[in-house]
Amino acid sequence: MSQGGPVIAVDGPAAAGKGTLARKLAEALDLPYLDTGLLYRAVARLVLDAGANPTDPAESFAHALVAEDTRRPDLRSPEVTQAASQVAAQPAVRAALVETQRRFAAARGGVLDGRDIGTAIFPNADVKLFITASPATRALRRFLQTGGDSTAPDAQEKLRVMEEALVARDAADAGRDTAPLCIAADAHVIETDTSDAQTVLAEALRITRERLATQ
Ligand code: DC
Repeated sequence: MSQGGPVIAVDGPAAAGKGTLARKLAEALDLPYLDTGLLYRAVARLVLDAGANPTDPAESFAHALVAEDTRRPDLRSPEVTQAASQVAAQPAVRAALVETQRRFAAARGGVLDGRDIGTAIFPNADVKLFITASPATRALRRFLQTGGDSTAPDAQEKLRVMEEALVARDAADAGRDTAPLCIAADAHVIETDTSDAQTVLAEALRITRERLATQ
C-alpha cells in the first residue's frame, strides 16, 4: 500500500453497474470515492460550452478543469456522453487527468471507477475489480434507470437503439490507442448479468477484504 490507504480500482464497460458498486464499496470501507468518468464528461461539457469540436485537441480544457465542473447537473446528457468518449480518446487529455486521479487517492487511498484505473492510473492498485455484463443487460439497466417503461409498445425498439449505442461506445473505449478499456491481468472479473446490486456488493467486499488481508 504505497498511498495513505488502499486503492481499489473498479473498471468495466458502460452501464455495467460500476458506479453503484464503487460508491457502496467506498461507503462500506470508509474510503473516498471518485467517478473518473465525470472528469471526461466535465471536460466534454467545457468543450461544448466553448463551441469547440470534441474531436479537436481538448488538452487545454482538461488542464482548466476545476472540481466544480464535475458537479454540474447536465453531465449525463446524450450529447455530453458522446463528446466525453471523443475527448477521452485523446492521449493529451488523458495525460492531463492522470495526476488529478492519483492525487485524489494520495491522502487516504480510495475507490475509483473508470476504464483504465487498474491498468494505467493505478497499475499497483491494492484491489482490481472488473465489472461487466452483456450488452442486453446493460441496455436494459440504462433504460430502466432513465425512466424507461419496459411494457410500453416502443420499449423493444428503444432498447435496441440503446444497446447499439452502448456497443458503439464500448468499441470506441476499447479501440482507442491510449489506455483502452481492457481487463488488467490481475483483476477479479465480476459478471453481473444474473446478480442484483446487493449480491455484487457482497462479492466485491469479500474479494476486497481477502486481498487487503493478505497484504
Ligand atoms: O463511465 P462514464 O460513462 O461516465 O464515462 C464517460 C466516458 O469517459 C466514456 O466514454 C469512457 C470515458 N472514460 C475513460 O476513458 N476512462 C475512465 N477512467 C473513465 C471514463
